[in-house]
Formats: sequence, structure tokens, C-alpha cells
Amino acid sequence: MRKLCLTFGFISFVSVFCFAAAERQIDTEAYAILQKDKLKPPAKFEMPNGCVSVDAKAIENGRILFNYLSNDSGKFGPDTKKQFGNCIACHEIEKGDGYGNIGPSLKDYNKNYIKSGARTHAWVYQKIADPRIDNPDSVMTVNLTTKLLSEREICDIVSYLVVDKK
Ligand code: HEC
Repeated sequence: MRKLCLTFGFISFVSVFCFAAAERQIDTEAYAILQKDKLKPPAKFEMPNGCVSVDAKAIENGRILFNYLSNDSGKFGPDTKKQFGNCIACHEIEKGDGYGNIGPSLKDYNKNYIKSGARTHAWVYQKIADPRIDNPDSVMTVNLTTKLLSEREICDIVSYLVVDKK
């Protein structure tokens, strides 16, 4: 009986260590994932030369980036591997096919925000590139600091936003 108790005691002693080690490994892996997903600090960007374009192709690309979702649910873009802007998830826009209202309506953006003098093109570029410079608590996606979108893609979105739409 004593032997049995000792053996059993030893096994449970080992397994306590084993569980502790396994838990530690899970913690380390979870920490690594969290670190990888952690957002870099807010960054300021300068709008590149020739950014805002009246070229129909640039505006159309901006429209697509604005109006399609990247994830697997709902409506996604023609190329499922491509990263889209997901803007329509939070913003209303002309001819938007269903939209979220977490963010302000961006309808008549040129008239309401640009021509009125409230915003400049460079401000809009920065807002999309890294919205935290304007508002540290912004829930909007960070697009350039994260490289979710490229400079040119952001310029195409700005070109689409600031053009007069029917
Ligand atoms: C998760 C929701 C969300 C997504 C996705 C999102 N936005 Fe926003 N956006 C907001 C909110 C909320 C605000 C206002 C508060 C703030 O400043 O963050 C805002 C503000 C803005 C503004 C400022 C409007 C103004 O002049 O005051 C612009 C421009 C804008 N968003 C464009 C975009 C574009 C373009 C995309 C896609 C690349 C996008 N947003 C994606 C939530 C979102």
C-alpha cells in the first residue's frame, strides 16, 4: 500500500509540472500572437505628389476599394485575395449598396467638407492612412501604418471621395 501511494504521489507530482509547463507554452504562444497583432504607434504621413487624380480609372479603383469588404462574410470584391477598404461597413456614400452608420455619412463629401473649407485633401489622406493622428480613440481602420492599403490605393480612395458624384 505504501509503495502504491508513493508511486501515485510521484506520478501526480510529475503531472503537475507537466500541466504547468504546457500552460506556460500556451501563454508564450498567445503572447507572441498578441504582439504580432499589436498596432504600431500612430504615424503621420505626407500626401504624395499627384495623389488626388481626376483620372476615371483611379476614381473607379477608389470606388471599388471603398465599397467592397475584405472578409469572407457578405459582399466581397471581384478578387477574393485582394485587401479592400471596408469603408462601406461604417460609412454611407452615393449609391452605396447597404452601409453601416458607425462613421459619419460621406455623401456629398466634396460639397460638405472640401468646398466648405472644413477639410483639405491632405487631411483626408492622413485620416485614411492613420486616423489616430486626428482622433487617438478612432475606431476607424488604420490603413497605411499597417500596410493594409498602399499609398496609391489610399490616393485612389481620396480621389473617389472628393469627386462630385451623381
Ligand atoms: C469601423 C468603422 C469604420 C471603418 C471601417 C471606416 N471608418 Fe471612417 N470613420 C469612422 C468613424 C467612427 C469616424 C469619425 C470618428 C473618427 O474621427 O474616427 C470616421 C471618419 C472618417 C472620415 C472623416 C470625415 C470628416 O471629414 O470628418 C473619413 C474621410 C473617413 N472616415 C473615411 C473612411 C474610409 C475611406 C474608410 C475605408 C478605407 C473608412 N473611413 C473606414 C469609422 C470607420
